[in-house]
Formats: sequence, structure tokens, C-alpha cells
Amino acid sequence: MWGRGALLGTRTPSLAWGRGWSAAAPCSAPAEPSRVRALIYGHHGDPAKVVELKNLELAAVGGSDVHVKMLAAPINPSDINMIQGNYGLLPKLPAVGGNEGVGQVVAVGGSVTGVKPGDWVIPANAGLGTWRTEAVFSEEALIGVPSDIPLQSAATLGVNPCTAYRMLMDFEQLQPGDWVIQNASNSGVGQAVIQIAAALGLRTINVVRDRPDLQELTDRLKSLGAEHVLTEEELRKHEMKNFFKDMPQPRLALNCVGGKSSTELLRHLAPGGTMVTYGGMAKQPVIASVSQLIFKDLKLRGFWLSQWKKDHSPGLWVPRQSGSVGLSPHNCPVQGADPHAVRSHRPRPAHSARLLRGPTAGLRACLGSLNAALRVFEADSHHVLIAEELE
Ligand SMILES: NC(=O)c1ccc[n+]([C@@H]2O[C@H](COP(=O)([O-])OP(=O)(O)OC[C@H]3O[C@@H](n4cnc5c(N)ncnc54)[C@H](OP(=O)(O)O)[C@@H]3O)[C@@H](O)[C@H]2O)c1
Repeated sequence: MWGRGALLGTRTPSLAWGRGWSAAAPCSAPAEPSRVRALIYGHHGDPAKVVELKNLELAAVGGSDVHVKMLAAPINPSDINMIQGNYGLLPKLPAVGGNEGVGQVVAVGGSVTGVKPGDWVIPANAGLGTWRTEAVFSEEALIGVPSDIPLQSAATLGVNPCTAYRMLMDFEQLQPGDWVIQNASNSGVGQAVIQIAAALGLRTINVVRDRPDLQELTDRLKSLGAEHVLTEEELRKHEMKNFFKDMPQPRLALNCVGGKSSTELLRHLAPGGTMVTYGGMAKQPVIASVSQLIFKDLKLRGFWLSQWKKDHSPGLWVPRQSGSVGLSPHNCPVQGADPHAVRSHRPRPAHSARLLRGPTAGLRACLGSLNAALRVFEADSHHVLIAEELE
């Protein structure tokens, strides 16, 4: 597992940043060059086979660069898909794994103005390679976040909560009291949907797969703000008609799964409503009946946060004010919105510090395939990989 990395310098496996070197001296230099450890893959394939723990040398800190010590990084399904080569965005190989995480600034180049040593930063975009102990990144590849929020919340702030927020905001004009239905509700995105929807005064119907500890999961999702939690099997039952007798059908459905599960979501959507597909965990196509399209005029849409970021300038999606990061003010990409608007709708306080995922089978499967590399990594550094903690 150990080896001298073929990658010299940690600015290497970049999708989004590939600027030249600058000779400017860093504002504050680290005492001595440190050994960087990273989980690297040289070709696509099964993560258990292709991901290796390697040593890297830390690149010099150029004028617009930031030396970052990584504090925590999650394992998301998209990280696995990227390693497998099945993702919409692939890095140049060899690449460091991981797209999300939080790090602390150690030193900055002379022309860096946005962050300073001690600040916490997260990646601005996918492809940064966060599964490493330290790195030198360009300033533009990073976003500063407050350091007084829980570490794990900071490490998982940039993808799932932002995805949840955009999907709730961009597809239907929802008003407080409106219903939203989603599947894979215990996923990282699903839990963010529950919390953000509750903060917006929206009510959620949350579909999960059946499991032995269903009551425990139901209680946990309800404690996050879920109104109803149903299993896939319950959703298919004829009696579901009665469920919607005394309440309006949802106008927005969020589909993480595909296949039969998405067909069921469509069945319960209000006429003219929208189903947004953002994940395909079942690896099966979305099937909509002809009658749903003709007689209910349902709309099928897709969402990809990476594309959203490309389409929207960072000046619009990174509000500059400081404040609680929990739901929107800092890093949920809020285009042209009042960053405090979400909080003002909030029916109850204190959901903001809970943008954490609980362990899911999907996450455990990802972890399983990476386990060997992780164990060595974990034993050898203080770096926290969030999935490991949840095992
Ligand atoms: N489009 C975007 O911009 C965007 C952004 C973020 C995430 N995503 C995607 O969203 C999905 C979820 O990501 P995450 O980080 O929230 O994942 P996660 O926390 O690991 O959760 C995965 C979820 O998928 C469910 N699942 C796994 N296999 C399934 C199957 N065969 N059938 C039905 N459900 C299944 C799991 O349910 P169990 O607990 O029952 O296993 C769990 O609820 C991924 O596909 C990810 O790539 C997309």
C-alpha cells in the first residue's frame, strides 16, 4: 500500500484549476516541509483495487495559493463513481480521491486576500481531491466557511445541502405548507431536504427502504423535521389513496433512486407537478406512464450541482456575509437571495447544526470497497474520513 507517489506536489489532479506557478513568497510559511499522505488512483476501476495510499511532496505556495491542512472529508457516492469512471466529470489521472471536505489554512501566498491562516475552507467545485492530509490549492478553488460550526457539518456542507436547497427552490414555486415527496430520504441529500424543507415551512413525505430498524430511522428523520416516513412498499399500497384524501398532493418530487421507486413518486404527484431526478441509486431508468404525462402533465427534470455551479457565477452563489452556515447564509448557493430568508421562515430553531448524515447502507458499501486503503490511512494520520467514523 505504501509507496512513493508518482504525483509530486499536491496541486496535481485538478479538474477545475490548472494555473501556472507564481514565485511570490507565502504570507506565513510552515515550519518545515511536511509529508503529505493521500489516497490516489492511477486508473479507473474498483476502488478497493485501484485506490492506494501514497506519499506526496507538498508543492511550494505560490502568490495566489493557499496551503491547507485537511481536517475531515466524507465519502460520497459520486467519489466512488468518479473512481470507477462512471461520473459526469472525471479528473486527469493519477488523481487524489474525494470531492468534499473541510481544511484549515496553514499559509497563504502574497496575493491571497480572501482567506488567512487559521480559516476553514471547503472546495468550491468537485475534483479537488480531498482525501489527503495537506495540499496547496489555488485561492479560487476554495471557499471560506466559519470555523465555529461542527467539523462534520463543515465537511459535508458543499454538496448535499446545496443540492437539496436548489431542488427545493428552483423547480416549483412552493409556499409554506406545501408538500414535497422524496425517496432515499435517509440519504445525505434526503436528510438535508428534510431539514431545509422544514426550515422553509414545507412539509415532507419521506420514502425509505424497509429495514429491521425502521422505527429508529423514522424517529431520527422525524427529529430532523420529516412529517411522514413511509416505506417503498407502503407507498405502493392501494390505501395510499386515502393518505392523500385530506391533504393536497405534492407538487415536487425528488428522485434519488430511479426504477419503480420513481414511478411511485410520479403516481402521487399533483397534476402539473415536477419530479426532479438527481441520483440513480437503483441503476434503473425512470419510467413514467403515458397517462401520467398526458392526463397529469407531469414534468420530468434533472439536477446536477456541478452544472448549476458552471451556469451561475460564484459571485452570485457565495454570499459574502458571515453568519450561521447551517442552511443558507454562507455556502448553500443562494442566487440573488436574501441569505437570511431561509432562517426567517424557520418554524423551529436549531436544525442548522444538524446537516449530518447518519450511516446508510450505500455509504457502508462505499466504505467496504475502500476499507483497506482507509484503514491504513486512518492509522497513519489524524485525518478524519467521515464514513469511517460512522461504521
Ligand atoms: N445531482 C447532484 O447534483 C447530486 C448531488 C449530491 C448527490 N447526488 C447523488 O445523490 C445520490 C445520493 O447521494 P448521498 O450522498 O445522499 O448518498 P448516501 O447518503 O450514501 O445515501 C444513499 C441512499 O441511496 C439509497 N440506496 C442505495 N442503493 C439503493 C437501491 N438499490 N435502491 C434504492 N435506494 C438505494 C440508500 O438507502 P438505504 O439506506 O436503504 O441503503 C440511501 O438512502 C447519489 O446518487 C449521489 O451521486 C447528486
